[in-house]
Amino acid sequence: MKSRVPERLGISFPILQGGMIWISDAALAAAVSEAGGLGMIGAGGMSIEEIRKEVTRAKSISTRTFGVNIPLLRADAGEAVEAAIRAGADVIATSAGNPKAYTAIARDLGAKVIHVVSNVRMAEKAEEAGVDVIVAEGYEAGGHNGFDELTTMVLVPQIVDAVNTPVIAAGGIGDARGMAAAFCLGAEGVQLGTRFIASVESPAHPRYKELILSAGDRATVITGRSFGPVRVLKNKLADMILQAEREGLQPEEVQEMIGAGRSVKACLEGNLDEGSFMSGQIAGMIHDLKSAREIVKELMEGCEEIFSYLKEGELG
Ligand SMILES: Cc1cc2nc3c(=O)[nH]c(=O)nc-3n(C[C@H](O)[C@H](O)[C@H](O)COP(=O)(O)O)c2cc1C
Repeated sequence: MKSRVPERLGISFPILQGGMIWISDAALAAAVSEAGGLGMIGAGGMSIEEIRKEVTRAKSISTRTFGVNIPLLRADAGEAVEAAIRAGADVIATSAGNPKAYTAIARDLGAKVIHVVSNVRMAEKAEEAGVDVIVAEGYEAGGHNGFDELTTMVLVPQIVDAVNTPVIAAGGIGDARGMAAAFCLGAEGVQLGTRFIASVESPAHPRYKELILSAGDRATVITGRSFGPVRVLKNKLADMILQAEREGLQPEEVQEMIGAGRSVKACLEGNLDEGSFMSGQIAGMIHDLKSAREIVKELMEGCEEIFSYLKEGELG
């Protein structure tokens, strides 16, 4: 498997665990990094002080390279980037915004920068900003999605053709078959989120993990399609939001109805009716709880196996 990503980021394998608010804490990130991938702390819901603490905790568990995901929607994004790096993060993964200003801050402080995009224009802008690696995230992915509804299958090759920066595929990857497919599309690595929710080290509530493990192929739905698409597992809350959207409620009214703290209700409290259980479509294929090490190992070994099988085979 040819990939510029391991050398660029200082990791063994081109496998990233995507930042996940309330889920990818220091323990999960450190476990993925220890397994040879890139673990990422999801700093979305953390204060600056909490970021410092969590980065310090990750460093006490693992000496390997790890990253911090900072959604650029937060008003103090610059401060958050700086705090994460000064506390010891090697990589900053930015998402949901323009990485221009923050890439410079991170690079000046000696960190590598990854930016998550969902269309070609965003990828070109990320390249202009000088990021080290681009994550192309398709509409299958759990959590916040792009408005363009581009799937991983169509997004990745178009971004690969448009930029020279290494591209990582995200969205809908749960095993070696998905990883091999991503490489066939020209990606040089993969980022997984949903698969790592159902990992031994994930701090997600046991009921959240169980929902992922028992999910079928039609388990997820997009809420907020018109004002901020989020892929979640179907439940009472998701139904309520979809109903409100159908009735033509304005985005602010829907936001008010949803209120704050729905992710916390899901991730930490396991509240099946009132929580927002973000998940990718790939949940339908995840049936067993595995350690981060097993997940990374199976991805690498399975992928190598698929490539040697394809090399031997003939079409037609
Ligand atoms: C529960 C959950 C929370 C997420 N939170 C974030 C986040 O805070 N920041 C971000 O950039 N991406 C976030 N994502 C996206 C992941 O980092 C990753 O790109 C995505 O899950 C990959 O698709 P998959 O779910 O099909 O594996 C989240 C995804 C999930 C499932």
